[in-house]
Amino acid sequence: MRRILVAGNWKMNGDEAANAALVDGIVAGVPEGGQADLLVCPPFPYLSSVAVRLSGSAVMLGAQTVSEHPKGAFTGEVSAAMLGELGCRYVIVGHSERRALFGETSATVASKFSAALDADLTPILCVGETLDDREAGRTEAVIDEQLDAVLGQSGADGIRRAVIAYEPVWAIGTGKTATPEQAQDVHRHIRSRIAAHDAGIAAGVQILYGGSVKGDNAEGLFGMPDIDGGLIGGASLNADDFLAIAGAATRV
Ligand code: 13P
Repeated sequence: MRRILVAGNWKMNGDEAANAALVDGIVAGVPEGGQADLLVCPPFPYLSSVAVRLSGSAVMLGAQTVSEHPKGAFTGEVSAAMLGELGCRYVIVGHSERRALFGETSATVASKFSAALDADLTPILCVGETLDDREAGRTEAVIDEQLDAVLGQSGADGIRRAVIAYEPVWAIGTGKTATPEQAQDVHRHIRSRIAAHDAGIAAGVQILYGGSVKGDNAEGLFGMPDIDGGLIGGASLNADDFLAIAGAATRV
């Protein structure tokens, strides 16, 4: 039985005071029952202070991206080992904003994924199609290309130590959520693509949905057979909103 993971991607938001209120609010309101694991992914400069505030709680820490290189002359970059030392257990790789705005190719993302695994971090691999892709019937082809780059470099065994997040680009920050059925179709496809390599690993890997998840649509999404939680943007910046999504996870 796969557990549910509710992960907050804060993107480039927050400051020390707002983060303190947000983290304290989340920690104070973690739903009883333990069906869902909670994770927050603040910007790099705040990882240490958020780690301190999270200590002793069940809420985990992650980062939003990572260098594909282990160390060296890469000005401005942050290595997976550094993230591990700061207390991160997870790192998001291949978010569509990084692919679209910072030129990350599927090959770069596959290298970041592998660098995360090398440092014993759990990569959260984001995949997803644009509206143009969807309307042109290319959804599965786009996702296959993004997934295959990682499978080619790290194999199914790499996926066994990872989480996947399906984030349709057209649903991110738009208030337009994929319906549970639309999301389920893609999640099932992702799982079957992995199953072609290893059925056991496909059955065990957590696949999150991301894109305008809120307290009032989370339960329908998390109730689908291949949806194992959410990667939350806007609604992860407010403790009540984030906890409402975590609460939905305890009801499915
Ligand atoms: P929103 O929840 O704001 O749509 O963002 C989703 C996302 O990009 C999470 O990584």
